[in-house]
Amino acid sequence: MTITKHVRGVDDLGKDGILEILELSDHFLEVSNRRIPKVPALRGKTVASLFFEDSTRTRLSFEKAAKRLSADVMSFSVSSSSVKKGESLRDTVETISSMGVEAIVVRHRSVGVPWMLPQWTDASIINAGDGSHEHPTQALADCYTITQQLGNIAGKRIVIVGDIKHSRVARSNIKAFNMLGASVALVAPPTLLPPSIENWPVDTISDLDAAIKEADVLYLLRMQLERQEESLVPSLREYSNFYGLTLERSRMLQKSSIIMHPGPMNRGVEISGDVPDLPNALITNQVENGVIVRMAVLYHLLGSGVALAGFNQEADEDG
Ligand code: NCD
Repeated sequence: MTITKHVRGVDDLGKDGILEILELSDHFLEVSNRRIPKVPALRGKTVASLFFEDSTRTRLSFEKAAKRLSADVMSFSVSSSSVKKGESLRDTVETISSMGVEAIVVRHRSVGVPWMLPQWTDASIINAGDGSHEHPTQALADCYTITQQLGNIAGKRIVIVGDIKHSRVARSNIKAFNMLGASVALVAPPTLLPPSIENWPVDTISDLDAAIKEADVLYLLRMQLERQEESLVPSLREYSNFYGLTLERSRMLQKSSIIMHPGPMNRGVEISGDVPDLPNALITNQVENGVIVRMAVLYHLLGSGVALAGFNQEADEDG
């Protein structure tokens, strides 16, 4: 098994690392379905979550994953921290690190922050989103969800729709889907495609209706209005007419095809209110699998000495 020190981007894992995490995830799915969904695998280890940007689901998902592995969790969010008093990123990381932590889960609005942290700490770094750059554990949750539903990612046509330009989810997913042998198409207004698109391993399709018909996976992205410095679409109503998934459009999907969205959704913009309730919409599966793959990532990074016994054994009920 290849041991990785950090999961800052999809490239830290590579294809073999991704496949390893997906395989480990099957074990942690089984653990999570137990009466007491908790194992002592990371007892005595500490995971710190360091969120400089708002997040509910990703932070909670990491914390839940760490607790199911019996790790101690230190949660640090910017509004309640000394960063408000002007403490630098370096001081913050060094302070947390000197308390003794084995992993730091970091989310920051600036691209590249997870790659800076190892100069100040020996902890493993897990990127929970850096600006519009990467969000590798979301990609792992999505790869796991697709594999569960469709059996395989290789050979599948995955169509990603929406605000690609500002999306770290799209960047990590495109890399991961590509490594696992899918073909990826992007559908977006030209203003929401990044300038570097020619170098990406993707096709672009301008007509959503045509793209829907060929999709095995239709992956919708949130309009990230907080990251748009200028107005990139004439109006949200016009955007949803051209690029929103309505119930009517969803009927053009093949029977076996699935609909995904990383959340949080803007209902009525990229997805109409009733679509998330369709049986082939897997949005809640993605959230559930988020916890499972994050358990696998934490175990992969911190549990190498623990052996599989660590998760075959149930934790004490109060443990
Ligand atoms: C994503 C994020 O924050 O990058 N959400 C998430 O992790 N649950 C996607 C988004 O914000 O649209």
